[in-house]
Amino acid sequence: MAQFTKLIKRIGVYTSGGDAPGMNACVRAVVRTARARGIEVWGIEKGYTGLIENLMRPLEARDMANIIQRGGTILKTGRSTDFLKIENRKKSVENLNLNQIDGLVCIGGDGSFRGAMALWNEFQIPIVGTPGTIDNDLFGTDLTIGFDTAVNTALDAIDKIRDTADSHDRLFIVEVMGRNSGHIAAYVGLACGAEEVFTPEINTTVEKAVEKILQAQKKGKRSSIVIAAEGQKPGRAYDLAEAIRKKTGLDAKVCILGHIQRGGSPTATDRIIASRMGSAALDHLLAGSCDHMVGIDKNEIVQVPFEIATQREKKSSIDFVKLSNLLAI
Ligand code: F6P
Repeated sequence: MAQFTKLIKRIGVYTSGGDAPGMNACVRAVVRTARARGIEVWGIEKGYTGLIENLMRPLEARDMANIIQRGGTILKTGRSTDFLKIENRKKSVENLNLNQIDGLVCIGGDGSFRGAMALWNEFQIPIVGTPGTIDNDLFGTDLTIGFDTAVNTALDAIDKIRDTADSHDRLFIVEVMGRNSGHIAAYVGLACGAEEVFTPEINTTVEKAVEKILQAQKKGKRSSIVIAAEGQKPGRAYDLAEAIRKKTGLDAKVCILGHIQRGGSPTATDRIIASRMGSAALDHLLAGSCDHMVGIDKNEIVQVPFEIATQREKKSSIDFVKLSNLLAI
């Protein structure tokens, strides 16, 4: 976390990394809080690409009409590898100066925040982040924007899979997103009553899972849902299904939910945290505080230094997996 004294008259806002439901609600909160405080706002399109290529335009309060309920991001997003090059970061700062932008709000995940840290550390551009990612993998915040919607979207799909699994007495392996983290898997597993949950944080072996599925069958369970976090390898569910097939002869069906989890109208929870975080981010900038992510801890807004938010591991989902296992007898 850092303090600065520069007077903020105009700010820029951008969304970056994978899109997440609620990003629009956050952009709306940033823009409208700024306008309410007499600050000008420019929207930067396509994340870091827009900074490098000068894709920026003024935004007004009315431009934010009817977006709070929309998934995706009206500002577009991207995963820029060009921003890793110092010459492109210099170009970005030239563009910010050209447009007289004094500070930034970055809505994104850990990769986006690493870019934000570079802008502050190398060029002293005041910047505050809000956590926009379905993965919920940022340290220091109970929730990230988009996570609750993604969990509910996955749950809705899994409830439907349950119906057909039950009708056919089948075992399904459902793969959910989350990159390296198992938060989505852990929440979804607990909420859908999964028989087993595979996450990168817990070393559940195929042997243990097979043993549990066979025991469950002996107890009269005919259908099972196994939730697998994609881990570092999307499509990992197919490997698990193959291993289970080899060990048991059971025909494990695979369903990879994929990008469906990133779309759709944000839940009330996501709209509310996005609005609170976006508004707070703007106020933090006006108070001269930057180089941090706005988080929510025990329902209170908190400031988490970017370095801590991106480097420490959030492990809370392990308890959910344990509870899920306990209840899956
Ligand atoms: O970070 C969000 C996320 O959806 C991850 O859960 C997933 O691993 C990744 O993005 C997929 O990214 P892309 O859409 O760029 O393939």
